[in-house]
Amino acid sequence: MRRAKISIIGAGNVGATCAHWAAAKELGDIVLLDIPDRVGVAKGKALDLACSAPIERFDAVIVGTSDYKDTADSDVVIVTAGLPRKPGMSRDDLIATNVKIVRSVSEDVAKHSPNAVMIVVSNPLDAMVYTAWKASGFPTQRILGQAGALDVARFREFLAMELGISIEDIQALLLGGHGDDMVPLPRFTSVHGIPITQLLSKERIDACVQRAKVGGGEIVQLMGTSAYYAPASGSVQMAEAIIKDKKRILPCAAYCEKEYGVGGKGDGYFVGVPVVLGSNGVERVIEIQMDADERKLMDESISHVKDLVGVVRKTFPDLG
Ligand code: NAI
Ligand code: 2OP
Repeated sequence: MRRAKISIIGAGNVGATCAHWAAAKELGDIVLLDIPDRVGVAKGKALDLACSAPIERFDAVIVGTSDYKDTADSDVVIVTAGLPRKPGMSRDDLIATNVKIVRSVSEDVAKHSPNAVMIVVSNPLDAMVYTAWKASGFPTQRILGQAGALDVARFREFLAMELGISIEDIQALLLGGHGDDMVPLPRFTSVHGIPITQLLSKERIDACVQRAKVGGGEIVQLMGTSAYYAPASGSVQMAEAIIKDKKRILPCAAYCEKEYGVGGKGDGYFVGVPVVLGSNGVERVIEIQMDADERKLMDESISHVKDLVGVVRKTFPDLG
């Protein structure tokens, strides 16, 4: 049986850590691609990771490159190319630089791996998935963004810290864009089936919600650049669901038109919603019923995503 092939574009912090998690889970062969100036970094990290195989006991061919030919016929491509934010910057401040990068990367990915599922990670995430969709010409089912898998993991971790219980027993749901206005949903959050509201006061839940919303910024403040262990872990969780056709339900930035009232026919946006992930990419968007307060928060988050995409369309009219 042919092993799956995963290409990771951008061999920086998130890209290299994606390679690490994917190798540890033995998901398939891995190509780590960066720009020609940084090909040594891509090759070096690939070789270093490959040399951990005898200890970690995974079989995979791991290649560093700057040549898209090496990525040909990938099953999954994870796009992490682009600038990360520095202290004081929002994700949105990265838009002008990263649109150009994600645009050219997506064109190359589409040329060499026309049947891949593309997972976009570069920020500002919701606008970058849109850019990758337009530039690649991929069907919406095969293009999605990583944000919710990370954001909900942060929310679950903060709840586990607060309760002093195992992370394994916490289920949570989170919607919206990958900004500080993301929408964690305590009403859909439970601990071994017990509603979170029976275990924690509203104030403590609100504090965990708030910490999840600004969790990315908290880490940027601490270490001067953005997070990478958990973002890569979320990206590889998505890749695994696709490669193994697991039909997992994960929150992802997926294309919505009528779903969640996001847009009209032919005028959709990528926003964070629960989806069924399998070998075809996004197999189904799951709609949940929200109350008025949740709906308001979701509408605000969608409106922010639309503003960001508006900036892309205005700056690069051919991506409109
Ligand atoms: P980094 O600076 O460590 O790595 C970025 C890499 O992209 C560099 O090695 C750079 O040379 C490469 N690159 C730049 N232009 C390229 C091109 N045209 N082709 C191929 N490679 C190219 O940054 P880091 O920390 O890995 O973050 C990467 C991106 O992911 C940033 O935009 C960051 O904001 C975003 N991010 C998104 C998260 C999410 O949850 N969606 C979470 C964490 C980061
Ligand atoms: C994060 O949430 C910066 O998007 C990145 O950590």
